[in-house]
Amino acid sequence: MDSSIRKFIFHDLQAIEGYIDPPDALVFLAVLLSQESASLQGSLAEIGVYYGRSYFLLRKICGDAAKIVAIDPFDIVNPDRGTTQYERFVAGGRRLGLSVDAECVIKSDSTLLQPENITERAGAVRFFSIDGGHMLHHVASDSRLAAASLAEHGIIVFDDTFNPAWPEVTAGVTDFLREEAGRFSVFCLTKYKTYVCRQPFHEFYARAIRTSTDLKAFEHIETAFLGSTAIRLHNPIRRRIAHEVMVGLGLRALSERVYR
Ligand SMILES: C[S@@+](CC[C@H](N)C(=O)[O-])C[C@H]1O[C@@H](n2cnc3c(N)ncnc32)[C@H](O)[C@@H]1O
Repeated sequence: MDSSIRKFIFHDLQAIEGYIDPPDALVFLAVLLSQESASLQGSLAEIGVYYGRSYFLLRKICGDAAKIVAIDPFDIVNPDRGTTQYERFVAGGRRLGLSVDAECVIKSDSTLLQPENITERAGAVRFFSIDGGHMLHHVASDSRLAAASLAEHGIIVFDDTFNPAWPEVTAGVTDFLREEAGRFSVFCLTKYKTYVCRQPFHEFYARAIRTSTDLKAFEHIETAFLGSTAIRLHNPIRRRIAHEVMVGLGLRALSERVYR
């Protein structure tokens, strides 16, 4: 348990507007640390950067030398602030003391990209987060792009799975898993995300989740899903409420203790 990264997750990172909450940030940490300790090499990639909450988590965990491919059209207009989405992304990093590698930023609709656009910049990817367009054609295209640029030992994480607000994400992920039956399988499920790897690495990543000290606060429930057994990390409502109460009282830095 690295207390400085935990403080970053529960406190500093929350200053960036965005969509990764502490429980999934802890799963990112567990997966990345397991790759590091097994010397599994490769770059990182994200489709759907927004203002960089997940990007800066990856940067903080993996350091300045890591290649992180950041894919987003960066065309969200912030009329009240007079800055572009991209400027706000970079400014957020500056506030956190974290860098953006502009050579690995791809300002584009992800569905227009080829795997080489990623691998020529950064090599094969070991950690690929998909959180861009949320319609079926986006997820179909993004999952193919991720699979084709992934290292053998890489993982793909899909955001907003099982969220009734975005049913086509769930449809797209299950289509992908059925098409790839026997090749890719799900090793972890959270309230918001689905974590996938190639079959031969399923036990490696399941073990990483099972044994991570950062994840021991969650209930670990074995859940059958399209031919594999995933570990579903259940976050009981009492803990979520305790966390929100502490945040509401302005005790963000201490709110980490609820998840020990
Ligand atoms: C929910 S936000 C992502 C949140 C982010 N992952 C975080 O950690 O805060 C969705 C992002 O996807 C981007 N997006 C939407 N459609 C996209 C597409 N077709 N290709 C790439 N990015 C897309 C949007 O511009 C937006 O920044």
